[in-house]
Amino acid sequence: MNRRFAFAAVLPFLLPVLLACPLSAQSTQEFERRRMQFATRVPDGVIVVLGAREPAQDYLSFSQAPSFNYLTGFEEPDAALVMVKKGVQVAWAMMFVQPKLPSREVWTGVRLGVRGVTDLTSIRGRVVTELPAVLDSLARTGMAFNVVGQFGATDGPEGSADVRSPDEQMMDALQKKYAGLKVTPVNDLVEELRGTKSPAELALIRRAADITVRAQKEAIAALKDGMNEFEIQALIEYTFRRNGADRPSFATIVGSGPNATTLHYNANDRFIGINDLVVMDIGASYKGYAADVTRTVPASGKFSPTQREVYTIVRDAQAAAERQAKLGAPSRLMNDSANAVIAAGLARLRLIDSPDATYDCSTGASPRQCPQYRMYYMHGLGHGIGLEVHDPEQYYYTAKLGPGSAFTLEPGIYVRERVLDEMPDTPRNREIAARLRPLVTFYRNIGVRIEDDYVVTEQGVEGISRAPREIAEIEALMKAGSTGPAPRDRAFVEGYKAP
Ligand code: GLY
Ligand code: MN
Repeated sequence: MNRRFAFAAVLPFLLPVLLACPLSAQSTQEFERRRMQFATRVPDGVIVVLGAREPAQDYLSFSQAPSFNYLTGFEEPDAALVMVKKGVQVAWAMMFVQPKLPSREVWTGVRLGVRGVTDLTSIRGRVVTELPAVLDSLARTGMAFNVVGQFGATDGPEGSADVRSPDEQMMDALQKKYAGLKVTPVNDLVEELRGTKSPAELALIRRAADITVRAQKEAIAALKDGMNEFEIQALIEYTFRRNGADRPSFATIVGSGPNATTLHYNANDRFIGINDLVVMDIGASYKGYAADVTRTVPASGKFSPTQREVYTIVRDAQAAAERQAKLGAPSRLMNDSANAVIAAGLARLRLIDSPDATYDCSTGASPRQCPQYRMYYMHGLGHGIGLEVHDPEQYYYTAKLGPGSAFTLEPGIYVRERVLDEMPDTPRNREIAARLRPLVTFYRNIGVRIEDDYVVTEQGVEGISRAPREIAEIEALMKAGSTGPAPRDRAFVEGYKAP
């Protein structure tokens, strides 16, 4: 059989594998480059990168551990990458994966198996059942182990530090057998690399943001009082999938009325009242990459005077932060400028005594002082986005914005009915509460968050989530209303081209 014919003969078999390719739109070379960058930062020895395990409970959906995904692009469960690093070289590398067993594929769907993972990653594959023996023989050499996996955080109840994750248990067993074996978690080294996104990653984040904006527009147009929050959630998540997203990148938040003031509310099961503001904090995940966009809209279709006052302060705070978001600028300036606008605005509404007023945030003889505006704005200005919705971001390490940054800006104000009762009970706080209570009652249950996504390239900072956010734009879209979601936009879904 000549070679051309041989290729033609295998093509029908190869094609489904290529189409089902679990690598994201990034090239094999890009993953190779990341592994080399990572390896140069790790001390000599064995490098073990552990993927996420099949969920212990049956039928829960699987998603890959972000750092494993970052270094391999391989999205099947129970996988591991093992490398041996000496000097500037990776002397040896191996991917351990589930075997390709037709009897198991009946349940799990197609697995790439040892040959498939080698074709896709250019790393030799072995079945994962051989991993313990390989790690054992590497441990016997006395080389130090540098491990990326689930360390520290456990699924156990809060405070149960003695609950060891499966990854920790695997390393504990090796250390028990080989006294003196040095095991160092090196998650932080991958995370720092993940903080600077490549052009291919930025393209995926842009796509996730485009899809999220489509969902925001559908939701804003459809939202009416009398609907239940879950109806908006369903429309949002349907719009994600209809536009090619994998899944929501975090639990969708649709919070109306008092729920708008709870930061991570996601029960989404309340009927929306006509006087409510509704916070919709949502994100699509596209080929593993997250967007995170929040809009706040009035159920009536028109902002009331009080809703407008609070909304305008939050929008001004975001605009102030945006003015400081420049290539090479210190990230702290974004924070400082948003804080100043929020503090001044809350003082104007008399929800706080003055922009720099404080309250006792501990008890005792000399209580710690915290800014009063923090009672209504309890979270940070933003965070990195990427393989996780709260992803590492280079400004965490460098304190400034550089090419490859991808982050959110999401100021907010939340007037919880009981906000003043949350202060520790001190004589001073009682006085503050007595002064501020009438205004808190006046503005109660107004929760506003406005969140957008930004990427940084050599050309500068670019906002990538252009959903309506000015009051007039939101009111116009709500007035236009919705005729129901359109069917899947095939040209959009199939038109994605990796750069
Ligand atoms: N969008 C949810 C969060 O940033 O916490
Ligand atoms: Mn966010």
